[in-house]
Amino acid sequence: MESLYNSFGDKPFVGFWRFRKPGLVIKDPEVVKTILFQDFKNFHQNGFRVDPHLDPLVHKNPFMIAGEEWKTTRQTLTPSFTNSKLKPLLPLMEEVAAELVQYLRTNCHTCGPDGFEAKDLSSKYTMEMVATCAFGIKGESFKNPNAKLREMTMQVVRPGFIKNIEFMIIQFLPSLAALLKIRLMPKEVDEFFRSIVRDVLADREKKNTTRNDYIQNLIYLKKKAEETGGSYTEEDITGHAVTFMTDGFETSSITMGFIMHHLSQNPHIQEAMWKEVKKAREENQGQLPFEVLMELPLLDQVIHETLRLHPPLMALEKVCTTPTTLRASDGTEVHAPRGLLCVVPLRGLHKDPRFFHDPERFDPDRFSPGRKSDIPKCTYLGFGGGPRQCLGMRFALQQIKLGLASIVENFVIKTTPRTPKVIEQDPTYFLACAKDGLWVRFEERKTAG
Ligand code: HEM
Repeated sequence: MESLYNSFGDKPFVGFWRFRKPGLVIKDPEVVKTILFQDFKNFHQNGFRVDPHLDPLVHKNPFMIAGEEWKTTRQTLTPSFTNSKLKPLLPLMEEVAAELVQYLRTNCHTCGPDGFEAKDLSSKYTMEMVATCAFGIKGESFKNPNAKLREMTMQVVRPGFIKNIEFMIIQFLPSLAALLKIRLMPKEVDEFFRSIVRDVLADREKKNTTRNDYIQNLIYLKKKAEETGGSYTEEDITGHAVTFMTDGFETSSITMGFIMHHLSQNPHIQEAMWKEVKKAREENQGQLPFEVLMELPLLDQVIHETLRLHPPLMALEKVCTTPTTLRASDGTEVHAPRGLLCVVPLRGLHKDPRFFHDPERFDPDRFSPGRKSDIPKCTYLGFGGGPRQCLGMRFALQQIKLGLASIVENFVIKTTPRTPKVIEQDPTYFLACAKDGLWVRFEERKTAG
């Protein structure tokens, strides 16, 4: 998609064919605005769908559904991602951040000259975050490289060659997928997640306990539905907890991995981050309260600049559901028929020199209060945009900021002989991923604490 984007200069649209179906790559931010915001109702459907009978848990994911079903689900889940629900998660998250620091302390001297693969390291942290915050369990990711939760999740988010082909059949030849009964989530994984949720519900019921986590919010939704004659089932709880895992775990670990890579190459930015976190702690009696953590400006800029260079979801795919005339800023018009696939190429837009000067350079200052407003609207969309913008954005920012703050307070991230000079995309993977890994090492900060 990126080469298609780059091959057509300043043209606002590029047409393409996929399995005999026409598609349109959008290169003009005005048209992106039309699709994501102004005429959202005509493009409310994502280009990904699964069969609700074959993949009932995946079908609960707001990303996979459309129309009224999406609207109701999104409205039901949105309150769980407000600050008032995220703030109580902080103590649980701090336990995981402490585990990460401990893990690095124990292993940073013995990990060998190549250091750690940053994405793999981050995935232990984000897996543990989702385990405790969404499911209310321990994932054992730091202790056991073959932990069951990780292994099961990987089967869905990191498929191998055969799974990739099955995935393509599900997306592009859905009737064949139905005929062959090909599912995105293997039966064994489906049953594993159902059993986790069943055990957590039974345990809380038996002990009559509650916990400040996401699954508790879902339990309240079920109780409320029972009291008011509505419908919210155990399968809904499981599906929505699984959504947290499938959408939140890998995207966040990809982002953290790339951040560590860039920090290893930019010691001055790392130093400035350390000073920012240190000052915030000093001003808050040694604590990093939720409101303070979420507002640390440099941490925020570093995350967004990393997402600009490496958006985990490299493109958004939206289906036109009502014929619409798309008008570009140079006056070109395209009449989008029903069913047309419109691709918003996040990576292409994010690296377009028309919108970002010296686009390959890692420069978090682009997102500073003084310069942020220079970024043209709808050219930076790391978390997407419009009514379907990432539901878990604030949770993602919270966990990444806490992880980064904990790392820079205690360690200095350095390059290793294996740190890549140029990052090549892994062609077998549908999310952003460095083909040869991102290698970094950690030196304990002498002035820690
Ligand atoms: C750095 C981490 C993350 C990134 C970069 C990211 C990015 C995105 C993007 C680009 C979209 C598509 C938005 C659109 O269509 O306009 C999306 C959707 C979504 N994300 Fe995230 N995401 C992240 C973390 C999370 C987390 C932690 C969750 C946890 C629940 C989550 C849940 C979702 C859901 C449910 C949707 C579908 C929303 C809808 O269609 O209504 N994401 N995300």
